[in-house]
Amino acid sequence: MLLEARNIGKSFTGVRALDGVDFDVRPGEVHVLLGENGAGKSTLVKVLAGVHAPDTGTVERRGSLAVIHQELTLVPQLSVAENLFLGRPPRRFGIVDKARMREDAKALLDRVGLDVDPTTPVQDLGIAGQQMVEIARALSLNAQLLVLDEPTAVLTDTETDRLLDIMSELRAQGVGLVFITHHLDEIRRVADRITVLRDGRSVGTLPGTATVEHMIELMVGRTIDEQYPRRRTEPGEVLFKVEGLTRRGAFHDVSFHVRAGEVVGVAGLVGAGRTEVVRAAFGVDPYDSGTVEVAGRQVPRHDVQAAVRAGLGLVPEDRKGQGLVLTSTVADNLGLVTMKASTRAGLVDRRGQRERAAGMAKSLRVKASGLGQQVRELSGGNQQKVVIGKWLLADPRVLVLDEPTRGVDVGAKVEIYELVNRMTAAGRAVVLVSSDLPEVIGMSDRVVVMAHGRVAGELPGGTTQDKVMALAVQEFPA
Ligand SMILES: Nc1ncnc2c1ncn2[C@@H]1O[C@H](COP(=O)(O)OP(=O)(O)OP(=O)(O)O)[C@@H](O)[C@H]1O
Ligand SMILES: [Mg+2]
Repeated sequence: MLLEARNIGKSFTGVRALDGVDFDVRPGEVHVLLGENGAGKSTLVKVLAGVHAPDTGTVERRGSLAVIHQELTLVPQLSVAENLFLGRPPRRFGIVDKARMREDAKALLDRVGLDVDPTTPVQDLGIAGQQMVEIARALSLNAQLLVLDEPTAVLTDTETDRLLDIMSELRAQGVGLVFITHHLDEIRRVADRITVLRDGRSVGTLPGTATVEHMIELMVGRTIDEQYPRRRTEPGEVLFKVEGLTRRGAFHDVSFHVRAGEVVGVAGLVGAGRTEVVRAAFGVDPYDSGTVEVAGRQVPRHDVQAAVRAGLGLVPEDRKGQGLVLTSTVADNLGLVTMKASTRAGLVDRRGQRERAAGMAKSLRVKASGLGQQVRELSGGNQQKVVIGKWLLADPRVLVLDEPTRGVDVGAKVEIYELVNRMTAAGRAVVLVSSDLPEVIGMSDRVVVMAHGRVAGELPGGTTQDKVMALAVQEFPA
């Protein structure tokens, strides 16, 4: 064994995160850790890595360890190369050898297939790019044990394939790997063993060949009949219209519309410009030309307040940066955009707001010790549920969801889809930006596919992944 953890227990105030967990890793295997949001996976990783001291139990490790944590740990202002060699830059005659650092960085980036200049500041990369830098950094340590806590949550299929290939290579070299993911199809491709956690306890270890149904049953204690329960409604008037939207160097002449009661998906590869377009439409970033309309009225450019007043809502892809106030409570975060609606005779209706927040937390099954718990203490997936809950409570006429189910477990995904159905049944319009092809196909009434900052085409809901991909890789004449 490379690693043997026995009887691990760990509590935080009000929460027993781990309770008597046994877990081990052999050389040359991929041991998947599976469980719902808040089951204790990241806590176990932190105990294995020595970040948390366990309350009970022991961890024995033979061999060096590298960990890719769920939360990114890069320094945004530093360059890619500086981040890769943080604290251990190559030196020559005692001084940092910058040329060598750039070369070594390039080689590492090639290995993970990330085509960026090593001198680029990390903050200029998208989240997927940042994740690939984290992965490259962990690989550069050449550890005998590698722990990956949801590395694929922010990656698209192509990047995920690459990572799974690298993991298989490492396994063949005798490295022991621990892999956490909510994408059950990935598990079938690499797992040798699957240990399932539920409420901080290990409920069993399955062979890597286990079926998805079996995994779900052990993980959530019930079966899920319908993974994409889209309920179509008769489309009404056009509620959201983007026309000719252009920003030089980012997106060009983007037009699409969404009717009341519709879910329109936006698919595309990383860098296709999907997030840039929705951020611009919502007023977070400017654009050069084009128009954005909500229910026939033009929304002013680069003005988030005006967009919210016009009835637009955006669940951003970067939940930590833009979606949450981490040091505030669950209740306050859920209430952030509903404050206005909860004002009665000029006073904030605290009680009403609290009741609505409690109802939403319950619908989404947010796992917290209470509504008063700080959001930063929640598990990654539960933080994501709070961001979505906040906007669902605000109930805008047009809701734009950018990668809404990233890091969310299979059961909670279905709850989110049900709430999307509820919104469209009530005549709202939903834009669903997603890199999860089965999701965008399964939950959209129409799918707009973007490539290289342009709309490459539109497909009906329920189309095939091949058809989406064919448009997503389309080239445009210069
Ligand atoms: N620092 C902390 N303070 C208080 N509670 C914590 C802290 N860290 C984790 N918890 C709690 O421990 C439980 C397990 O969280 P953990 O992050 O391990 O879940 P997870 O299985 O990784 O979930 P996810 O799939 O959402 O990432 C949760 O209830 C979480 O709120
Ligand atoms: Mg986690």
